Formats: sequence, C-alpha cells, structure tokens
Amino acid sequence: MILTHEEEAMLRGDQGEAVKLAMEILVKVGEKFGAKRLIPVASAHIVLAMYKSIFDAGLEVCEKFAALGGKFRVPTTLDPSGMDTQNWQAFKTPATYAEKQQRVAQAYEKMGAIMSWTCLPHFMGMAPRFGEHVGWTESSAVAFINSVLGARSNRETAVVDVCIGLTGRTPEYGLHLDENRYGTVLVEMEIGGRTLASWEYPVLGYFLGKTLGGDIGVVVGLAGSPAMDELKSMLAAAAASGPLALVHLVGITPEARSKEQAFGPNQPTRSVSVTGEVLKATQNEMCTVKNAKIDLVAVGCPHYSIVEIQKVKELLAGRKVSPNTEFWIYTTKQIRDLAERMGILAEFAGLGVKIATETCMLISPVETWGFKTLMTDSGKCSYYAPMQCKTDVVFGSTAECVEAAVSGRV
Ligand code: F3S
Repeated sequence: MILTHEEEAMLRGDQGEAVKLAMEILVKVGEKFGAKRLIPVASAHIVLAMYKSIFDAGLEVCEKFAALGGKFRVPTTLDPSGMDTQNWQAFKTPATYAEKQQRVAQAYEKMGAIMSWTCLPHFMGMAPRFGEHVGWTESSAVAFINSVLGARSNRETAVVDVCIGLTGRTPEYGLHLDENRYGTVLVEMEIGGRTLASWEYPVLGYFLGKTLGGDIGVVVGLAGSPAMDELKSMLAAAAASGPLALVHLVGITPEARSKEQAFGPNQPTRSVSVTGEVLKATQNEMCTVKNAKIDLVAVGCPHYSIVEIQKVKELLAGRKVSPNTEFWIYTTKQIRDLAERMGILAEFAGLGVKIATETCMLISPVETWGFKTLMTDSGKCSYYAPMQCKTDVVFGSTAECVEAAVSGRV
C-alpha cells in the first residue's frame, strides 16, 4: 500500500503507541483486501462495545488501546451497550457482567468516544452525507447509510472499527470504490402494484438478505413512499439474514434514480421476483413456532423511534400486559427522555410495559430470564433470537406483538 508521509509517521509510532498499533492493523487489513491506499473518513462507529459479544478478549483490546494513550481523531460513536445503562439491575444483569461492561465504557470515555450507545447514530445527528466516506461496523447502520443516504462504508469489523476511529482512516476497497457499488442482480416487486404494509418491510429485507448474498440488488417497483422507520427495519433485516451492505432501491437510493443508473456498466447476472407468495413463505420462515405462549414481547430492533413508541401506546389503548408476559421496548436514552416528557413512560409503567435503554434483546443477557418464546416485530431479531437469546421466536406486526403482550399468547 502507498502511504502518505503522515501515515508513515503514524506507522513508525511518531504519534504514539496506540496510533502505531492501529495503523499496523489497518495496513494488514488493506493488504488482505487489495487496497492501494488508506483514505480519510468523516466518522467511525464501533461494535466492539457490548460485553455479551466481545467477551474478555474485546475488553482487553479496548483497555489496551486506552492504556496506550489512544484518542479518537474523528467523531466516533458506540453501538448499544451490553446492558441497560440506566437500570441494569432491573433486567437481571449479573453483577460480574455489569462490572466488565462498565470497564468497556470507561475505556471508551478515556479515548474520547461519543457515548451514543445506539445502532442508529445516523438518527441522532451523525448522519453522513451523500458520497462521504466513513468507517462503520453495525450492519444495519451500514446498510442504511449506503442504501438510503448514499454514504460509503464497508461492513467494517470489530477491532478494525477502533483502529479507524484512532487514525481517521480506512483502507480503500469494496464499497468505497465506484466500480463496486453498481448493481448486479435485478429484483422485481410483483405484488400487484400495492404499497407494502409496515410489517412487510422487514419481511422483504429478510428475503433480500438471504437471496442476494454478496450481490448488490437493484429493487424496482417498490410502490409508495416508505417511512424512514420502515427502511430502517427492512435494511436491518436484510443485513442480518445475509452479508448485504448496499441495495439499490430505485427512486430512493441517491445512486439509483433509475434502474440504468443503478446498474451502471453492469448487466444483471440474474433476476429475482418478489411475489405475495414469496413474502408469505419468508414470514413463515421467520417464526420457529406457532400458536405459542409468549414469555417476552421485545420490540425496538433497531432502536425504536418516538413515532414507533407512540404507535405502541395507541395500539395498547390503556390495556394491561398479561401477568405471564414481559413487554420490553428498546430505544435510545434521548428517545426515552422524550417519551418521559410526553407522559408515555408513566402510562406504560401502569400497564406493565418496560423501556430498556441503550441496549437490546440480542446483546444483553436476556437468557438469564429463562424465556422459552420471544415475539418481535423485528426481522433482525427474528433471525438472531434463537442463537442469541436461546428462545423460539415468533415474528409479527407491531399490532400482533401488542395483542400477544396483552393475551400472553399468539
Ligand atoms: Fe440495534 Fe441491537 Fe437490533 S444493536 S439493530 S437493536 S440487534
């Protein structure tokens, strides 16, 4: 790789041991992927943040970089914490686990991270602009900023994300390059021209992630004007069921004003039809059981917006959650505070709904509760829950989730 004079100095250790180590790692990664150089990034986003998935090895990495004097040189945000940051005891978080999660937080504070604890930094003032290069990890966020905002990031990996924040650079390969961003597979919506219901967006995403694999899809015929929350939910599911980091939604993706623009010089290598039957079959695949007693209804993956929380309030309409079922909503601290100011939290407390802050069902120790069946409106959660929460899973619309919370069954 060709490095600038400044980068060579960083690699020699002229800017400290943490930067030296980070540069050594980035150069190795760049060489592995055939990058010719490093490029500056506007921001970094880190998943090496939740103790549940980084374990002691990840904690050691954070603490090592902090002990070596590492300081982030571009705005660097954190993915959700491995526990509710406000109220971890109420969610049965083991004390030894909490102590390690707190050490992760201390290391990042020392390095100057933005303590965002969310998978949606782009919804809280950190949205990259069209064409801007960033180095982010969280798969749902990367799929969103590439596909909806037209920013440029690969799905970076844990540890590499910290190195990007510490150096402000990433190897130039993959989706940073024009030629790798054009579509390769045509996806045609064939559902009679109707607009998808909100709950169908994560189902479509789940199907796209599984079907496209490493290809870049060009989706034509998506009717209507999906809300940001619907795109958020769809792309999170797509990036969970497959390695997807960019899909062109013609008419939405800035690089896909037309099908021709999305494909650029490429010819489609294959085409895929999305029919009503395909969506129905995918929805069935997203459930491991039917007609079950529901122990936990967990929504907010990705973190719920205030609009989604208001929707739950309307759907509940003052009814209480079943005494045999837990109903948890995951969101950011900022949205929680807004819900409190709007009186929604007080109302939820009386009905048995709990708000969990700055974490989620997949990256906190939910298994300590011994739940058998979890219900969710999230495609990403339905994909990972059997592995991460050790439960059966039922996917349903938000309305169906609320009904299951009230009745305790689906
Ligand atoms: Fe976010 Fe956790 Fe889902 S990090 S996308 S809420 S798995």
